Amino acid sequence: MEKKVVIVTGASKGIGRAIARTLAQAGYRVGIHYNASKGPAEELQRELPDSFLLQADLSQVEGADVIYDFVKKELSSNLYGLVNNAGFTIDNPIFSASLDEFDKIINTNLRNTWYLTKRLSRFFIRKKEGRVVNISSVVGATGNPTQSLYGMTKAGIDNFTKTAAMEFASYNILVNSVAPGFIETDMTTELGDDIKEKILATIPLGRMGRAEEIADVVRFLMESATYITGSVIHVNGGMFSG
Ligand SMILES: NC(=O)c1ccc[n+]([C@@H]2O[C@H](COP(=O)([O-])OP(=O)(O)OC[C@H]3O[C@@H](n4cnc5c(N)ncnc54)[C@H](OP(=O)(O)O)[C@@H]3O)[C@@H](O)[C@H]2O)c1
Repeated sequence: MEKKVVIVTGASKGIGRAIARTLAQAGYRVGIHYNASKGPAEELQRELPDSFLLQADLSQVEGADVIYDFVKKELSSNLYGLVNNAGFTIDNPIFSASLDEFDKIINTNLRNTWYLTKRLSRFFIRKKEGRVVNISSVVGATGNPTQSLYGMTKAGIDNFTKTAAMEFASYNILVNSVAPGFIETDMTTELGDDIKEKILATIPLGRMGRAEEIADVVRFLMESATYITGSVIHVNGGMFSG
């Protein structure tokens, strides 16, 4: 039997990389999307049986079109899942954040989560089966000083999850968000020690999370959660429960 295909955006590093690994171990054929980190993406592809690479800059709509064209040509009938994970943060107080920064982060984190889902939805609708998991953030629900732009994109993603779940439910397409708290990846290693100490003080479990702890929840949503849709699942060591 052919393996079900799941595309994971931003799978070259961090959380996306762990999601790709976990899904491959669970038996899925994984599409490893990356943008700039070609070497790490190729290394992962060598590690994961049957996986394939997809390069696209998701700050541009053309990047999502590249993924759509590939799916249409190579694997439309086998596409089962999409994990919208690619994203980045901009840490800048409101008074100094720029319109350029606004456009850049909205385009990558938010517009392409919507646009890629919209484009790939036709394959799920045709099969009457699909799973979409959007990686948002606790910051989308709580806000965070210096992260106004990032937080808006993540709040937008969670709202999109809810509407997409409603629109797609009759096609057996389940859409959920996983909202990580603070997870050890490149995104958080850049934080200063003083900020890390402050963050740790807000986490009841007393530590940052591991990317694999997010990946396990994505795997659950992909393979066994048949009655969860439109939900935002918080995975954050107890700092916020929704
Ligand atoms: N780490 C945390 O504490 C945390 C907490 C909450 C939510 N999240 C969310 O989890 C997701 C992954 O974060 P992470 O910590 O794993 O970050 P990361 O290690 O910095 O990895 C980010 C990934 O996104 C991709 N990406 C960034 N800009 C892109 C663009 N313009 N086009 C295509 N791909 C792009 C990168 O690809 P290339 O390197 O190949 O360019 C990379 O694979 C993000 O959506 C982030 O907001 C993270």
